[in-house]
Amino acid sequence: MISPIIETIQLSYDYTLDGEKVIRALDNISLEITEGEYVCLIGPNGSGKSTLARHLNALLLPAAGDVYVDGLLTGKEENRWEIRRRVGLVFQNPDNQIVATTVEEDVAFGLENMGIDPPLIRQRVAEALELVGMSSLAQHAPHLLSGGQKQRLAIAGIIAMRPRCLVLDEPTAMLDPRGRREVLSTIRMLNRQEKVTVVHITHFMEETLDADRIIVMDRGQIAYSGTPEEVFSGEIDLGSLEMDMPAIPALASALREKGMPVPQNTLTVDQLVEYLC
Ligand SMILES: Nc1ncnc2c1ncn2[C@@H]1O[C@H](COP(=O)(O)OP(=O)(O)OP(=O)(O)O)[C@@H](O)[C@H]1O
Ligand SMILES: [Mg+2]
Repeated sequence: MISPIIETIQLSYDYTLDGEKVIRALDNISLEITEGEYVCLIGPNGSGKSTLARHLNALLLPAAGDVYVDGLLTGKEENRWEIRRRVGLVFQNPDNQIVATTVEEDVAFGLENMGIDPPLIRQRVAEALELVGMSSLAQHAPHLLSGGQKQRLAIAGIIAMRPRCLVLDEPTAMLDPRGRREVLSTIRMLNRQEKVTVVHITHFMEETLDADRIIVMDRGQIAYSGTPEEVFSGEIDLGSLEMDMPAIPALASALREKGMPVPQNTLTVDQLVEYLC
């Protein structure tokens, strides 16, 4: 049996103020993520997505329940360094993730902190920049890059540390459409080609269409978990969770309501055109 790369068992988390519980942000979440999976995490504002993401590399520790990364319990102090190496976290704002004055140095930063030998650092930096398509920008100043390039730089800095899993918390939220496309294709390539497990939090429903699985969160709980075809079949009331259907499944669903038997698994323009023509 394949053991999951990430497992949460009845995970709950409360934000506190002066020792007093303010809010239960995660409520009894049991979840398994298999190595190599591409999981999208969606849900309304405040549903607990970021709080869950921060538990996956031990930035936050459970108030109740357990989180295992590659079999390592996050609650154990001695596991934390290894857990943070295996699960890399990418945040929304690329500017907050830049630490050095050249692209190359920025990617090297985490590796230097790990105490890796300089020749190996150079090799890993070159590989990581190549993977995100930024080799030609190695000597550039990060603050002059576009939003998409900055976010790919942040991803390169994480990838250089060879994590098994990448957790991205709204990595495209601050980007223009071109930047979003660049970052998305980088994430997909890392998953498909480099076999990195991906947990991708997003408010853009279109970004979830080729995930292996979508987990829908609501008020600290998992409201639903399924393939994109299942989540966007029209059977689930996303509207009650303040979420929209992506355009094509919404159109397919509307056509079905008018009596046209468009297949439930219609997610893309190509699939809809194929059916209609
Ligand atoms: N530092 C904090 N202190 C107190 N409460 C917090 C803190 N961070 C988050 N919360 C609360 O915990 C709940 C879950 O927040 P979280 O940020 O995990 O949600 P989210 O799904 O990531 O939302 P968004 O889509 O807006 O990013 C919310 O009610 C939020 O207000
Ligand atoms: Mg969030």
